[in-house]
Amino acid sequence: MKKDSNLYDMKSAREDLPLSRSELEHRHHMVAESPSLKQVISDAVRAARSGSTILITGESGTGKELIARLVHNVSPRSEQPFVVVNCGALPETLLETELFGHEKGSFTGALYRKIGLFETASSGTIFLDEIGEMSPAMQVKLLRVLQEGTFNRIGNAATISVDVRVISATNKDLREELKKRKFREDLFYRLNVIHLALPPLRERKEDIAHLAGFFVKRLKESFDLKELKISEEAKNLIAGYSWPGNVRELENAIERAAVMGDGHEILPQDLVLHRNEPAAEEDHIEVGMTLQQALDGFKRDFIKKTLQLTKGNRKKAAEILDIQRTYLSRLIKDYELDV
Ligand SMILES: Nc1ncnc2c1ncn2[C@@H]1O[C@H](COP(=O)(O)OP(=O)(O)OP(=O)(O)O)[C@@H](O)[C@H]1O
Ligand SMILES: [Mg+2]
Repeated sequence: MKKDSNLYDMKSAREDLPLSRSELEHRHHMVAESPSLKQVISDAVRAARSGSTILITGESGTGKELIARLVHNVSPRSEQPFVVVNCGALPETLLETELFGHEKGSFTGALYRKIGLFETASSGTIFLDEIGEMSPAMQVKLLRVLQEGTFNRIGNAATISVDVRVISATNKDLREELKKRKFREDLFYRLNVIHLALPPLRERKEDIAHLAGFFVKRLKESFDLKELKISEEAKNLIAGYSWPGNVRELENAIERAAVMGDGHEILPQDLVLHRNEPAAEEDHIEVGMTLQQALDGFKRDFIKKTLQLTKGNRKKAAEILDIQRTYLSRLIKDYELDV
């Protein structure tokens, strides 16, 4: 018995965050409720103490940049610069001058000396976003910085040494890129000393309601919407949606709902959700019946789901569907819905 309670204590202690909720929220602009996100944050805080390279992976909008900033801000380098580079946004030659800089006159159009971002980030952290998009030639140059801590400004033979912590991020599966020989294996192992994997939002549902509440709180303050809250039906809709665009999609949906709704209460109709069904089910269309039969089938399911959303409240369901309550009652009877 005693043993069991010890085990339980150990488990809950491991899931505890190394930062207080308030610190996480106010200093790092994050909320974390799910054990999986808490684990990533704990690992990030532990990794921050070292200068090791970190690779952050996760679908778009899962919070990769936020985690990179957290690592920097809790690390001994926090007083030094944090420099963000989007490796996917620039063509190869431009990325090279951005990262390493160039001397005046080193190529046509080089009218002045430019200090590269590796020098700007000196003693701090450089965040290489979308690292999976980096060209093979640039990968070689980056590898040199990681292996030797040195590089050259374009047009200058003098070697420059820097002490920069490298955090990179990608939403690509880099192991697949290795197999296709699009990403260098030696660079991958250099970048991947510590790996932080952010799970998609649909796999950490405990975070959804807290994130929604966090965004509402933020909007209340920044848009002066003192009364703003989320209706119960909208909460149910938010909790049941798959959020393919992850936290960014949730943040945008809440902001849009707050701005376009009445400013007091977010209702289901204020939430624009783009893909409400998992992709696999999108193609699940049966054929071999009349159009009327197909439409009836759809209407029946649609009404049933709306009533589930309102927990059987016909008045609210009729409002959402924008039909008369009496008409809804007739449809419920016609479709023999059991509500
Ligand atoms: N746990 C969280 N708590 C609060 N806000 C979050 C959290 N995770 C992400 N966000 C917010 O969601 C948005 C997307 O996060 P971020 O830009 O870090 O994602 P990303 O993984 O870098 O996305 P992309 O791959 O599209 O660049 C940001 O506005 C960020 O502040
Ligand atoms: Mg990002």
